[in-house]
Parts: sequence; C-alpha cells; structure tokens
Amino acid sequence: MKTIKNKILITGATAGIGKALTQTFLNLDNQIIAVGRNIEKLNELERLDKRIIPFQCDISKQSELDKLALFIEQEHQDLNILINNAGIQYNYNFLKEPQLLHKIDYEVNVNLLSPLKLIALLLPTLKNNKNAAIINVSSGLAIVPKMDAPIYCGTKAGIHIFTKSLRYQLEDKIKVFEIIPALVDTAMTEGRGKGKIPPQQLVDEFIKAFEKDKYEVNIGKVKFLKIINRIRPSLADRLMKGGR
Ligand SMILES: NC(=O)c1ccc[n+]([C@@H]2O[C@H](COP(=O)([O-])OP(=O)(O)OC[C@H]3O[C@@H](n4cnc5c(N)ncnc54)[C@H](OP(=O)(O)O)[C@@H]3O)[C@@H](O)[C@H]2O)c1
Repeated sequence: MKTIKNKILITGATAGIGKALTQTFLNLDNQIIAVGRNIEKLNELERLDKRIIPFQCDISKQSELDKLALFIEQEHQDLNILINNAGIQYNYNFLKEPQLLHKIDYEVNVNLLSPLKLIALLLPTLKNNKNAAIINVSSGLAIVPKMDAPIYCGTKAGIHIFTKSLRYQLEDKIKVFEIIPALVDTAMTEGRGKGKIPPQQLVDEFIKAFEKDKYEVNIGKVKFLKIINRIRPSLADRLMKGGR
C-alpha cells in the first residue's frame, strides 16, 4: 500500500488508537476524515491541521451512518481508505448485570454491526478509487477470550472472521487489512491490565505491515499468543481467561 496522499476515514479518531493513527497518517501527508461523537475533541483535531475533516457521528445510530454515507458520496468521492477503529468494551458478569439486554445490543452494534454497515455504505465509493483499502481493528481477544467480557470477545471474533472472508471477496479490487492489537494504553484499558503498549507502538508496527501488504497485523504480544494457541491451546486459554 502507498502510505501517502490518501483520503482516509477513521472512526474513533478522537482518542486512543484512532487518534494515534490520525496523527501518523497526517505526518505521512494524507487527508483524514475524523469520525467520533465528541464535538470538542473533533474541533480540537480540526484546529490541529487543515487536512483533518471532522464529522460528528454516533456509529451505533443508523440515521447518523446514513448522513455520513451521504457526506462521503457528495463531498468525498475520492475516499480510498476506511479504518473501522471505534469500539467499546464492557466488563460484566451475565449472572449479575442488571442492564444485560441493553448492553448486549449496544456493544454488538458499535463493535460489529456498525463497521459492517459502514463498509456496505462506503464500498461504492471505495471501489472506484486506486489504492483502496479497508482496515478493521479487532483484538487478541478475538483469538483467545477472557472471562470478563464475553460480548466484546464475541464481537471481535466476528470482526476477525468477517475480515478474512471479505478479503477473499474483494481480492484485487480493495485490500482488506486487520489490526489485531494486544493491550494498548488508552481510555478503554484505564485501570486495567499490565504490560500495555503505547498507541504509537501499535501504529508504527501497523504502518510497516501496511506498506508491505501484510494483511493480518499481529501487534505486540499477539504474535506470541497465536503461537502458544497453535501449540498448546489449553495454555493460551489459561493465560487469557483471567485477563483484566
Ligand atoms: N486499548 C486496547 O488495549 C485495545 C486492544 C485490542 C483492541 N482494541 C480496539 O481498538 C479500537 C480503539 O480502542 P481504543 O483503545 O483506542 O479506545 P478508546 O481510547 O476508548 O477510544 C475509542 C474511540 O471510539 C470512539 N467511539 C466509541 N463509541 C463510538 C460511537 N458509538 N460512535 C462513534 N465513535 C465511537 C470514541 O470517540 P467518541 O468518544 O468521540 O465517540 C473514541 O475515539 C477499539 O475497536 C478496541 O476494541 C483496543
């Protein structure tokens, strides 16, 4: 993939991994359509650089996804890269959670349904452009789950398998990448986990793989997790089960 002079839509560009991706692609001379809900953070990004085009959108709402798709169709026909990065993680126990149905709905919506819908809505534009790519952010928890977040792990496993299958379908027309992060130090993991890597480390590892068309990008310890899971799946399960 060419890493310069692209027009890239990044969901969840206002914080954490998405913000680090935004900053790095900007430094590489790309234009960014930054998507998120927080208007102050979007305005801050716009002030940072003229090449950032903010778009406020709650991706869990169909009406807002439709507005985003219309905006792209009418004003950014040259969009060639979509990064599905926005995500949330709830940690709870199925036996004890009082808002179970609401939480299931919302987490599946943000993490799984919305990225799939966004791909469907933007494919007509992406497929017309050169150097086109879709990048989905899954998780090491898509490979081996932890006990505390069954829905999160399920949505990420869904994204993982979906991404592989879509890659087969879009072969030659649009390159389909998957970032599989280990624990990264962001608001999502605040107060949880050990050995977290900074978001910039994830982005640096990803860019190296992206340049070489390496489609499945295992970040940090995910490389070892996959090896352990292949050789001794029961050990991988034990290591991950109690993860925070
Ligand atoms: N951090 C980790 O250790 C880790 C590990 C594996 C995978 N991941 C994945 O990496 C991705 C980024 O996570 P992160 O750690 O950077 O999280 P984060 O710091 O909490 O940032 C999440 C981003 O998603 C956006 N977002 C959340 N809900 C949204 C919605 N309904 N509509 C639009 N935007 C929404 C937020 O923006 P607004 O608040 O402005 O809406 C924010 O920019 C997620 O998919 C996550 O599952 C993270």
